[in-house]
Amino acid sequence: PTIKLEDYRPTDFVLHSVAMTIRLFEGSAEIDTQLVLERREGVGADTPLVLDGDELTLSGVTLDGAALAADAYTASPERLEISALPAAGRFTLAIGTRIVPEENTKLMGLYRSNGVWCTQCEAEGFRRITYFLDRPDVLAPYKVRIEADKAAAPILLSNGNPAEHGELPDDRHFAVWDDPFNKPSYLFAVVAGDLDSIHEEFTTASGKPVTLGIYTEKGRVAQAGYAMDALKRSMWWDERRFGREYDLDVFNVVAISDFNMGAMENKGLNVFNHKYVLLDSDTATDADYAGVETVIAHEYFHNWTGNRITCRDWFQLCLKEGLTVYRDQEFSADERSAPVQRINSVRRLKAHQFPEDQGPLQHPVRPREYKEINNFYTATVYDKGAELVRMIATILGRDDFRKGMDLYFERHDGDAATIEDFIACFEDAAGADLTQFALWYSQAGTPSLAITEDYDAASGTLTVGLKQALEVGASGTGGAPFHIPVRFGLVGSNGEDKAFTVAHGAEVDGDVIHLTGEEETVVFENVGERPYLSVLRDFSAPVTLHHEQSLSDRLALARLDPNLFNRWRILNDLVAEALVEASRKPLAPSQPPLPPEIVDAILGSAGDESIEAAYRAQALALPSEPEIARMLAENVDPDAIHAAVEAAKRFIGERGRKLFEAIRADARPAADFSPDADSAGRRSLANVALGYLAAASGDPAPAEAQYAAARNMTDRLAALAILVHRFPAADASKAALADFYTRFEDDGLVVDKWFALQATIPDVAALDTVAGLLDHPKFTLRNPNRVRALVGTFAGGNQLAFHRADGAGYRFVAERIAELDKLNPQIAARIATTFRSWRSFEAGRRHAAKAALENLAAIPDLSNDTRDIVGRSLR
Ligand code: ARG
Ligand code: ZN
Repeated sequence: PTIKLEDYRPTDFVLHSVAMTIRLFEGSAEIDTQLVLERREGVGADTPLVLDGDELTLSGVTLDGAALAADAYTASPERLEISALPAAGRFTLAIGTRIVPEENTKLMGLYRSNGVWCTQCEAEGFRRITYFLDRPDVLAPYKVRIEADKAAAPILLSNGNPAEHGELPDDRHFAVWDDPFNKPSYLFAVVAGDLDSIHEEFTTASGKPVTLGIYTEKGRVAQAGYAMDALKRSMWWDERRFGREYDLDVFNVVAISDFNMGAMENKGLNVFNHKYVLLDSDTATDADYAGVETVIAHEYFHNWTGNRITCRDWFQLCLKEGLTVYRDQEFSADERSAPVQRINSVRRLKAHQFPEDQGPLQHPVRPREYKEINNFYTATVYDKGAELVRMIATILGRDDFRKGMDLYFERHDGDAATIEDFIACFEDAAGADLTQFALWYSQAGTPSLAITEDYDAASGTLTVGLKQALEVGASGTGGAPFHIPVRFGLVGSNGEDKAFTVAHGAEVDGDVIHLTGEEETVVFENVGERPYLSVLRDFSAPVTLHHEQSLSDRLALARLDPNLFNRWRILNDLVAEALVEASRKPLAPSQPPLPPEIVDAILGSAGDESIEAAYRAQALALPSEPEIARMLAENVDPDAIHAAVEAAKRFIGERGRKLFEAIRADARPAADFSPDADSAGRRSLANVALGYLAAASGDPAPAEAQYAAARNMTDRLAALAILVHRFPAADASKAALADFYTRFEDDGLVVDKWFALQATIPDVAALDTVAGLLDHPKFTLRNPNRVRALVGTFAGGNQLAFHRADGAGYRFVAERIAELDKLNPQIAARIATTFRSWRSFEAGRRHAAKAALENLAAIPDLSNDTRDIVGRSLR
C-alpha cells in the first residue's frame, strides 16, 4: 500500500505507559508487554484497537488481568485487532509474543549478532518484537525487565537508567531499566551478551554526573578509546554551541558486528555498527577516524534533535535527520577545518544526492508518499535535508538561527513535531517569512542557477544577473522559484573583499543575495576597479551553478578568493568541465589532457604551504568518474570518462613531479601516530602525491616501498590501493594483497577493506575477480558490512566494471540482489539503488540495465523494499 502524508491522523487510542519483560533463551525469546491505554476522546466505543505486527506469533492476551473472549480479538502475524474495549478510562492490555532472534536475518527487531542479542527498531522494527502502535507519534515511558542466562549474557542493557538487578534460578539473572522520558517505539533498544566495556564520567554544564559506557565484543574494547573521546567532545560541543545538556544518568554505546546501517540513536543506548566505534592506527584509516567522530556525534546529537523532539510521522524524517546531519557537520567543522569539512560535505552531496535528485528515485526532502519507509533514509532526506537547515542559518544569520533553535527546543520538547513546527520557530524568533523558502521541502530536483555579470568602468558599476530554473522531474512536484541564498563577495586584485553599495535589484543582506524571483539583477555601485565576482560561497545553496565568467577571472579567484571553499570549488569546476569535454570526444593527439593553466593553478594551490595540508590534498583530488557521468547527463560512456581521467592524472603527475616529490620528502611520519586533523591532512597530501607519481611514472616501486614500511593503516592502504588499482598484474601488487590478507584475516573490518579494494579495481575484468570472491571462505551474504564491501562497493564504486558494455556487471549485481533479498531485503534494496542513473548511459548499457531491472521486477516473491526501488527506477 502507498502511505500518504495527507492521510495523517492521530491514533484512536492514547498510550500512557509500557512495561515489558523480555526472557532470552537459546533459540527463542518470550516477550510480555503491558500497555496502559485509553480511548481518545471522541472516538466511538465500537472502534477497535488495531496494533501493528510483523512476522509475530501471539502467545496470549489479557485485558485488565482477565482473558479476552475468543471473539474479542483477531491475531495474524501482521496485526492484532481488539474490540470490546472500555469506552472510557484507562485499561491495561497484556500481550505475549514468541520470537526466534537467531532466525531473524532481516536484522530488524530483536536478533542475534555473533551471539549478542540486540535490536534495531527504526523505522518499523518494534512490531517484530511485540504488537504495538508502532509509529513515531505514540510516546510513552518504558520500564523493561530483561532475563537471560548469566554466562551467555552477563550484560543486560536497555534504555534509560538502571533500576534493579538480581539473580534467578537456573543460572539466570535479570536487570530492570527505567526510561522516564516519553519516547516512540523506534527508539526502544535491548542489548544482552558477553561484552567488554570501558566507562568514563562526564559532568554536564549544570553539574549533573553522567556515566558513559562503550560496550564491544570480547577482546576489542581497547579499540573503543577514540569513540569515547569523540563522545565527550560531542557532549561538550552541544552544550556550548546549542545549549543542550544530556538528561539521563547513563549514556551507553554498543558496537555490533551485524548491523544494517551506520548506527542508531536509541534513547540512552546507542547501538552502532562496530565499524563506527572500533579503531586503532594499525587497522583503521584517517577517514575511518573521521567517520567514527562524525557518527558518534550524530547519534549523540539525536538525543535532542530526534529523541526529546521526535517526528509526528515518517514523512517528517528530515526534521531529525537533516537537522542532525547539519549539527554533526558543524561539529566536524569546529573540531577540524571548516573549509575542508565543507568541501567533503559538498563532494558527498554531489556524489550521492545530486544523482538521486536528477534520476528516477527523485523525491522531495519531505516525501509526500512512500511504499516502504526504509527506502527513504536517503541522501536527499539526510544530506539535502542538512543543506536546507544550513540555508535557514544563512538566510537568518548565526544569531537569529540560534534563537530559532532555542525556541524549537523550548516549544517542542516532548513533542512529535512537523517541518511546519520547525519553520514556524525560525519565523517567530527572527520575524522572518519563510513561506517561499519552505518550497525546498516539497519540491524535488536540483535547480540550476545562472549568473551573468556586466561591469561598467565609467560608473564603477557591476550588474549581476541571476536566473534560476527547475525542471520537473520523476517525482512531479513542480517547478516554482525557490528562495535561493547566494553568498558572494566582490574580490579585489589584492585578494580582499571590496566594499560596495547596492543601488537596486534583488535583496542583498550583508554578503547574501536573496534570489526569490525566477530572474533578477543586482546593481552594485562604487566598486572601483573591476572586481572578481565570487558567488555561491561555501555552497550556500544546493544548485548547479552556471557562471559565465572568463577563464582568467576564474583563475584569479582560484588564487585570490578569501573564501577558501570557493577557491577549491572554482578549480574543481574548471577541471570537471574540461574532463566532461574530453569524455565527449577524444582529444586530438596534440591537445593536452587538461588545459595547462588549470593544472598549474591546481599545483599552485597544492604547493601553497600557507594553507593546511588537508586542503591542499583536496585541491589535487579530481572530480570522481561518476560525477563526470552525472554532468554528461546522457549517452554516458564510462570507458571514455576513464580514459580522460587517466590521461589527466598522468599529465598532472608529470607536470607536478617536483612538487609531489617535495611533498613526499617533507612527509616524514611522526614517531607516534596521531589521528588529529592536521596529521591526517599531511598523510592525505603525501598519499595523493604518491598516486600522481605512480600515474606518471608507471612504476610501482615507490608504492611497494611505502607498503612495506607503513606504520599505520592510512599509509598502508593508500599504497596498496595504488598497487592493486594501477598495477593489478604486477607481482609486487599480488604479493602486497596477499600479505595484507594474512596480516589482517582475523579482523573483519580490515577484511572488508581487502574485499572493497578488489571490488573497485578500475578494469572491466574486476567483475571476474568479484565473482570469484563470492566463493572466498570469508564472504557471506549474512553480514551487511561484508556484502556492502564486495557487492555494494562494486556496484556503487566501480563505474567501469559495473557498467560494462556487455551488461554482465548489471546481470551479476541483479543476481546478488535477488539472493540477498530473501535474507535481508533492506540491504538488497539499498544495493538496487546503484542502478538509479541507468537512463543516462549510452543505448547498449541502457538496454542491458533495463533488462536486469525487469528481471528483478519479474521475481514473484520479491520483497516490498526491493520491488519499490526497482519499480521507481523503471518509471
Ligand atoms: N536514525 C539512524 C541515524 O541516522 C538511522 C536509522 C536508519 N534506519 C533505517 N531503517 N534505514 O542515525
Ligand atoms: Zn540520524
